[in-house]
Formats: sequence, structure tokens, C-alpha cells
Amino acid sequence: MLPAPSSDALAHSQRVAAHLRALIENAGGWIPFSRYMDAALYAPGLGYYAAGAMKFGAAGDFVTAPELTPLFGRTLAHAIAPLLAEAGGEVLELGAGSGRLAVDLLGELERLGAVPARYCILEVSADLRERQQRMIARELPHRCERVQWLDELPAHFSGAILGNEVLDALPVELVHWTESGPLVRGVALEGEAFAWRDRPIADPALRARAAALGLAPGYLSEINPAADALVASLGKMLDRGLLLLIDYGFAAAEYYHPQRHMGTLRAHVRHHALDDPFYLPGLADLTAHVDFSAVARAGMAAGLELAGYTSQAGFLLNGGLAELLMQTSPADAAAWLPQTNAVQRLVSPAEMGELFKVIGFGKGTIPPLAGFARGDRRHTL
Ligand SMILES: C[S@@+](CC[C@H](N)C(=O)[O-])C[C@H]1O[C@@H](n2cnc3c(N)ncnc32)[C@H](O)[C@@H]1O
Repeated sequence: MLPAPSSDALAHSQRVAAHLRALIENAGGWIPFSRYMDAALYAPGLGYYAAGAMKFGAAGDFVTAPELTPLFGRTLAHAIAPLLAEAGGEVLELGAGSGRLAVDLLGELERLGAVPARYCILEVSADLRERQQRMIARELPHRCERVQWLDELPAHFSGAILGNEVLDALPVELVHWTESGPLVRGVALEGEAFAWRDRPIADPALRARAAALGLAPGYLSEINPAADALVASLGKMLDRGLLLLIDYGFAAAEYYHPQRHMGTLRAHVRHHALDDPFYLPGLADLTAHVDFSAVARAGMAAGLELAGYTSQAGFLLNGGLAELLMQTSPADAAAWLPQTNAVQRLVSPAEMGELFKVIGFGKGTIPPLAGFARGDRRHTL
């Protein structure tokens, strides 16, 4: 059962809904779903990521890998340390959430003697940026001066770029394949309520993508041009180094499988996944799975070399997660048990191990990534 939201939370959601209705009215009665999702998540002071909701962890709406255990960030530190040690460079984290991953990564890089001169964070939410600043000041005060928040992507960058669960939080286009061709699904109003309306696709690039997928009439799914655009920008600005993106999703053949004919868009509230993206806007996270074939294509078109693609379980276990876990003695049950539980969630195929994938790109000569040493699935993309 979903817990009932507080009266404050409901009042906030009503303000977000009023903002969305105004957007629709000002646009002449219809906006594409991507515009709805963007505002519901990121409208300053209102959207899910832009206002003060708890979001991460047991008391929030969902749990991400860095929130489960420091071993996730520590394993990623081992993945990027050889690059930083051999070739230098900085770290850029996209969408740093609570700041947890930055703390765990930097802490482990320090132990490995590979602290970068700068750890940059690009975060679109002002609220989360403040939370990240507080967490890093509290947990890693002596490294504060190395952490910098960027307002936009730099023109050039060398080093390691990381993003955990960022692509799934970008606004998607909804496409409905019909007898008369693909249509873009948008949002209109019926009185005060949000209602679906399909329209011909005006954007030629989206129209071509939708037509190329050639899905059967009745099929409804997402296309994520914002993810392609972000990966393309990262590819262009990376002079030398590595881009690692971790998220839930599949290769295109599985993403657009006939059985997945209702798409992957979900609202996440208090650890429940709902099919209704209109549920209490501003209080629900909206996400879609990632089409990693499209991500791979966008990266390669921007001059990146595909370094590997595998499951989260494969990447973390190849990359030394179990060895890091063994640094805690099983005799110390109070420390060991929560860590083994968290590791189980990260790698179990029934939990995050198989649904989550890691895709890596490189530019220039970079040391091989242990995470892709076995079980690389590039051929499936
Ligand atoms: C699902 S959260 C994941 C947070 C964190 N990486 C974690 O694993 O806990 C998505 C994050 O991406 C951020 N974000 C969304 N769009 C972004 C963009 N275009 N560039 C950078 N960050 C973005 C959000 O504000 C949020 O911090």
C-alpha cells in the first residue's frame, strides 16, 4: 500500500499540477510528454528533483546503488584509478544525487593514491547541489576544495566521466505506433485532469527514428533524444579518457521487444512503481529504461570508442567488488551482514545485477577496464 502523502506534500503537488496546466494552456492546449516530464522533474522549486523531496534511500522513493553500500563507489574508484594514475586527468560526475558516490569514490581514490586535481559535478538541480555540498563538507572536509560544481559541460575534458542513473532521469518522447504510422504522444487537459493526445511527429529526426523502429500498430514506447544529445556532447568534449554510464535498460532488440508493447515509463513513489505518470506530479520520480544501442550509437558517432557493455553484476564482480567485501571480516557480523546484503542486491540477477548495465567508452589510449574483462556483451548492441 502506498502511504498517504502529507497535506504539505499534497499542496506542493497541486502547485506542480497548476504549473503543468499553465504550460499546456500557454502552448495552445497540448505539450509533448517530454515537456511534461521535464517540468514535473526539473521545474525550478517545483519539480521532483528541484524541490526538497527526500528521494533517495529507505525513507525516500527509490534506492540507488551508491546509497546501498560504499562498495559500489569504491569498486568504481578501482575502475578509474589506473587511468588517473597513468594519464592524469580529472573526474566529472553527472547527476550526483545525494553526493554519496562522490564521497565513496574520492575516499577510495585517496587510499589508492590517485586523487584527481579536480572532481567536478554537473548537477541540474539546485536543491541536490546544496545537499551534495553539505554531504561532502561533512564526510570529506579535507577534499572539499577539490570538488567543483559546474553550471554546464566544459568545452574540453580529460579523465573519467561517470553517471549513475542519469540517463533514465532524462525526459523521453512517447511514441505510439498506429496503422497510419508513428505518432508522438502528448498531454492535454480534460477540465483540470491531464489526458493523453497523440499527434503527428513534427520533428524530422524523431519521425525518422520512430519509422526506423518499425513497430507494430498499438505499440507504445519511448525514444530518448535527450540521452543521445548528452552522450554526443560528452563525446565531443572528451579529449582523452573514459566515459562510464550505469543504468537500467537493455539493447534495442530487447527494449523494443513485442512483449514490451506498453513501454518502460514508470512513476516511482515510496518504493512503489506505478504505471500512471500523472500520479501526484512533483511527488513522483518519472523514469524510463535506457536503450543502450542508441547510447552506443550516439557515443560512437561523437568520436568515442566503445570500450565495453555488460551487466552491473559482471562489471562489479570483474572489477573487484567481492575482494573489497572480503576486507570486512565475516566474524564482525554487525559490519559484514549489511554489506553482504547490499552486495547481494547489487549483483543478484533477481535484483539490480542483470537489469542494470554498464556501458564504457574511451577516447585516446586508455588502460583496459577490468570490469569488461569477462562477459562483454558489445555484440548485442
Ligand atoms: C536518479 S538520480 C541519480 C542520482 C545519483 N547518481 C545516484 O545514483 O544516487 C538522477 C540525477 O541526475 C540528475 N540530472 C538529471 N538531468 C541531468 C543532466 N542533464 N545533467 C546532469 N545531471 C542531471 C538529477 O538531478 C539527479 O541528481
